[in-house]
Amino acid sequence: MDMSTKYLGLDLKNPLVAAASPLSREVSSVRQLEDAGVGAVVIHSLFQEQIEHEDAAHDHFMQLGTESFAEALSYFPAQADYRRGPEQHLDHLTAVTKAVGIPVIASLNCTSTGGWTEYAKKMQDAGADALELNIYSIATDPTIDAAAIEHRYVEILRGVKRTVRLPVSVKLTPYFSSFANFAKRLDDEGADGLVLFNRFHQPDIDLDALEVVPQVVLSAPHEMRMPLRWIAILDPLVKASLAATTGVYTSLDVLKLLMAGADATQLCAALLRDGVCTTARILDEMGTWMADHEYESVQQLQGIMNQRSCPDPAAFERGQYMKALNAYA
Ligand SMILES: Cc1cc2nc3c(=O)[nH]c(=O)nc-3n(C[C@H](O)[C@H](O)[C@H](O)COP(=O)(O)O)c2cc1C
Repeated sequence: MDMSTKYLGLDLKNPLVAAASPLSREVSSVRQLEDAGVGAVVIHSLFQEQIEHEDAAHDHFMQLGTESFAEALSYFPAQADYRRGPEQHLDHLTAVTKAVGIPVIASLNCTSTGGWTEYAKKMQDAGADALELNIYSIATDPTIDAAAIEHRYVEILRGVKRTVRLPVSVKLTPYFSSFANFAKRLDDEGADGLVLFNRFHQPDIDLDALEVVPQVVLSAPHEMRMPLRWIAILDPLVKASLAATTGVYTSLDVLKLLMAGADATQLCAALLRDGVCTTARILDEMGTWMADHEYESVQQLQGIMNQRSCPDPAAFERGQYMKALNAYA
């Protein structure tokens, strides 16, 4: 069975990519991911704030800054709480790229443009095969409109694309009013890939301590329906590679996403919950399913269920919604 796929211009032996997660913190665990069979690995993110903390001039500016800026700074982990500073992150990236034979995708997690983009070039020099930009910010300022927010994303992409010759993907949230328009815009701006979708971590409240508590809740399997829908809609519209992330747990999830048009599927919670050996099981089950249904390669089934032949995807979506409500007994 030919499981190979092309993602961000890279040849992957199969479409299972280990998403950015704590599993890439150690070289040994990335080796385990490779041994378990993943086609590529995304290294956990280096955060814009980590880079900016490191900058002494910036620190000085912070001390002189406004009260609210100083307070905002206290929301972030102290530099010592990160396992590695930016330079150690780069050393780790270099060690990983030397240790494994699969493509290694570095990740920068950011909210705005700035001097941190030079780290994109440093990641390239560290041997990364591609770069994933996770733009993670919640729009809370009522004076900033949607157009300005989209413009900021585009500016970040442009800044990074100017800095590196590596393929660059953008990991996005689904929370844009006109998602197809925005995805096409990033595609036109030269995004080599779109990673759909980033999950916002929803904080909880500790009633006794009266504190907001950050908490990781792993995705539920049904959450893969959101990337499934959007990949099917976008596949005929964009040149960029499409990767699914969120709720990918089983071989059937992967097959559905590939049929919708995904070039790769990223696994995080499945690996954390079920162990890295789940990769081999998924690949094995995919092979069996494909043989039973007379497919010889992943490429043969990629995109066969996208919405290319659907003249009005919005009407289709509304029809499905009405049918689902009517069918509920
Ligand atoms: C503990 C944990 C750490 C994560 N770290 C990162 C990260 O460093 N950078 C990033 O872009 N995404 C990170 N993610 C998000 C995952 O890469 C993935 O996109 C998300 O969990 C949805 O996929 P899943 O349903 O397979 O978990 C993290 C997720 C978890 C649960």
